Amino acid sequence: MAEIIDGKKLGERIKEKIREQIPLLEKQYGRRPSLYVIIVGDDEGSMRYVNNKVNTANSLGMDARLITLKSNIYEKELINIIHVLNEDPLVDGIMVQLPLPSHINEDHVVDAIAKDKDVDGFNSLNVGSLWQGTHGIAPCTPKGVIQLIKTTGVPISGKFAVIVGRSNIVGKPVAKLLLDENATVAIAHTGTENLKAITSLADILVVAAGQEKLITADMVKPGAVVIDVGITRNAEGKVVGDVDFDAVKGIAGFITPVPGGVGPLTIAMLMKNTMECFLNHAEAHSDVSKLWATIIKARIGGHKQ
Ligand code: GUN
Repeated sequence: MAEIIDGKKLGERIKEKIREQIPLLEKQYGRRPSLYVIIVGDDEGSMRYVNNKVNTANSLGMDARLITLKSNIYEKELINIIHVLNEDPLVDGIMVQLPLPSHINEDHVVDAIAKDKDVDGFNSLNVGSLWQGTHGIAPCTPKGVIQLIKTTGVPISGKFAVIVGRSNIVGKPVAKLLLDENATVAIAHTGTENLKAITSLADILVVAAGQEKLITADMVKPGAVVIDVGITRNAEGKVVGDVDFDAVKGIAGFITPVPGGVGPLTIAMLMKNTMECFLNHAEAHSDVSKLWATIIKARIGGHKQ
């Protein structure tokens, strides 16, 4: 029977470390890390997500603000607001909740965010850094996936990892982060023939396809680490992942539940990215600040790219 990976507990541990560091940072730099979250429109689900992000950041002692904009805002006006935040030295992190209304080009908006404030790690410069292995901000959910795998104690290096899903925000970056950990990586997708033949070879299986019960017990290698990134609401209104949890838990070595697996890590990693942006900004000031920022980064656990 698989061990259930408790994302909630791990997320709390990461946030607790951040909470402990913030008073020290405030003493040293005279200010707290700041995060600006922008939402366009009033979609109920998106609103719940952004409130959770802002409330979590504030509960850790950060200075987080929500900017709510009307759904008919022009793309140019939204980009102007981002430019103002880019220029403000008291702003460390900026994120714009997606999706945006259809008259706004999401790529233009995401790419308008300064590289060193892009806490989502979605803009082209950070995606380039991720793939080049140069310094940048990696996206939150993929970072969370790596942390979840690491808590199992199963070494990633040398293992065969299969990712089901090739999205820009999960599948592709997870593949690169696993590659950075020395895994051998395959990305499967909706066009893959005989998915089962590939998934059943995986020592590490990460599923991000958005399809309930896509992964059944016969598709999983005994003892594998199974990370379910899927999150959909099924016909009965229940929040479910992509993995047939009840069946697969009898085969896998480790498995994440939905909810309570990847979700809490995404938000914890957003907090961590905001801290890293703050420390990079603080670091830029002097050699002493640089040393202090390095110490804090080590305490909250640095990110290797
Ligand atoms: N919409 C759903 N998830 C996310 C996320 O992680 N970041 C942003 N910006 N929008 C989202």
